[in-house]
Amino acid sequence: MGGLTLIDPGLVLAWGIPRMRDLPWRHVRDPWMILVAEVMLQQTQVDRVIPKWEAFLDAYPSPAECADAPLGDVLRMWQGLGYPRRAKYLHATAEQVIKSHDGCLPDSLDSLLALPGIGPYTARAVLAFAFERDVAVVDTNIARVLARVAGDRLTSKVAQSAADALVPVGAGWTWNQVIMDLGALVCRPMPMCAGCPISASCEWHVGSHPKPDPAFGSAGVSTKQAPFKGSDRQRRGQVLAALSSTGRPVAEFEARIVEGLVAEGLVERRGGEVVLPE
Ligand code: ADE
Repeated sequence: MGGLTLIDPGLVLAWGIPRMRDLPWRHVRDPWMILVAEVMLQQTQVDRVIPKWEAFLDAYPSPAECADAPLGDVLRMWQGLGYPRRAKYLHATAEQVIKSHDGCLPDSLDSLLALPGIGPYTARAVLAFAFERDVAVVDTNIARVLARVAGDRLTSKVAQSAADALVPVGAGWTWNQVIMDLGALVCRPMPMCAGCPISASCEWHVGSHPKPDPAFGSAGVSTKQAPFKGSDRQRRGQVLAALSSTGRPVAEFEARIVEGLVAEGLVERRGGEVVLPE
């Protein structure tokens, strides 16, 4: 664990600031825009998120427009991103923000965590990237960096407190973006240590990459996704895509898939038809 305290944030910032990826959500501080980006980015890659993020915010520039829209419309806007439960939570969060927070996302960790579908990562991402607070976010990329530097699998609690201790005072926004870039561009699942500004203080690197890689099995580090083709996830997406234009007779779809979507409130049965929720 000693390894983590050896990270010199100055080295990471000096590496990352000139290379910072130019991503559209990095140009804004509006909490709703940041929240939408972060929810989309949780399970979808950056290049697929960019056009969807722009279209979603054109349709729903603030929680008010999203809360006013039928869930079915929000699910239509989500088409192509996958994991549609995220859209349902976002819609529910928009409704809650209208009801309890005067239409504006709150700026405290506890209030953010109380919103539907907002977990420790998303809440801190809103605080760091919208409100520019000095909190540490730990996404899959950052969790991988931390585990390797420590040379050990980390629990989410240890990773979070190690990350918290690293945030340079007054530079939380930049720090989190830059360490995220380090994980996404250099400390990848197959790492490119030659380009890493902190390889000299990385236990795993200094120890010549002993197996197993401490990132794998560390809390918060995603494992490879199961193949999409032929998966239930694909079938669910196909049902929602088919319903995006019109309702369809129930019998057109595999019952098990429709049942799952109904149970989650992502589709409804109406008079022998399956439709998106109103
Ligand atoms: N993934 C999640 N949040 C991100 C961000 N702010 N920039 C790039 N990738 C991200």
